[in-house]
Amino acid sequence: MTRKKKPPLQSKRHAVTDDSGWTHITKGPKSTINTQYTKRLLQQQKIRRESLSLEAYSDKFEKYYTPKWRESSCFRSLESILEQDVLSANNTITITRCVCLGLGSPTAGVEVSSWELAALISMLEILGTRHQIKEVIFQDPIFNATDRAFLKDRDYAIVEDPSAFSMIDGTAFLFAPHLEWIHLATALEGASPSLCVCGDIDGFISDDSIAKKTSENVHRVLRDYTDQMTWKAMTDFDGGHNWCFFLCIYWLPGQEGAEDDENMEQRTMTASEELRP
Ligand SMILES: C[S@@+](CC[C@H](N)C(=O)[O-])C[C@H]1O[C@@H](n2cnc3c(N)ncnc32)[C@H](O)[C@@H]1O
Repeated sequence: MTRKKKPPLQSKRHAVTDDSGWTHITKGPKSTINTQYTKRLLQQQKIRRESLSLEAYSDKFEKYYTPKWRESSCFRSLESILEQDVLSANNTITITRCVCLGLGSPTAGVEVSSWELAALISMLEILGTRHQIKEVIFQDPIFNATDRAFLKDRDYAIVEDPSAFSMIDGTAFLFAPHLEWIHLATALEGASPSLCVCGDIDGFISDDSIAKKTSENVHRVLRDYTDQMTWKAMTDFDGGHNWCFFLCIYWLPGQEGAEDDENMEQRTMTASEELRP
């Protein structure tokens, strides 16, 4: 199957790697991107962060993040991609497990992580209508005790780095929003999760300024993965911090005619049942 033509992103997006190797996603023409400015913004975010107790965070997650996410048009757009593309009848993917890498620390006041978690939970619910997702695994070295307790309360598993990498296979849904490219390449080396939410891989590969700072091996792994997949860009989040910026959904395309095969199988069964005495 030929790969779908890349749809345009909503706005000019660039990934900028600063001197410490940290990649930031930012908007605007390349010439205006200033890594010092981005660093200052990150520092300001750090200062404003407020760690919450498990009880206070659980309350905020249920009463603020979850409803606000679910009433957003971004959620409706994601829901439609999942229902009409990923779960469509002729799509042959199977998902048995979800692996989340690099969520960040939601209870330490990192708002993006809370939006991402609310979105991930909604995705699991939608995917659960067609797939038996038996385990949901989180890995992020930054998790604190409250993050762990919050996730465990929801029956999710937390594993220590690097255990999660070996849990990714063809039946996995990999949720890795804004994970550093080097870690994403580790996750995708030797495994092709049938569904993945991560940074815009083609956008990353085609940006020469970043390409020079990452190894050819990282590029090869990421390119090999996108070559097999079909994808759509996430729409901007309209309910607060735009955590969807530069993110894409990748999924294994369905085999043409699989739906017909399924119908044919059902028709054959009905016919053979009719022939039975
Ligand atoms: C750029 S931050 C992204 C955080 C958040 N998802 C976001 O969109 O803002 C990358 C995250 O990856 C985490 N990380 C670093 N190494 C990792 C690893 N080996 N496995 C999982 N997560 C890792 C970092 O702790 C950090 O929280």
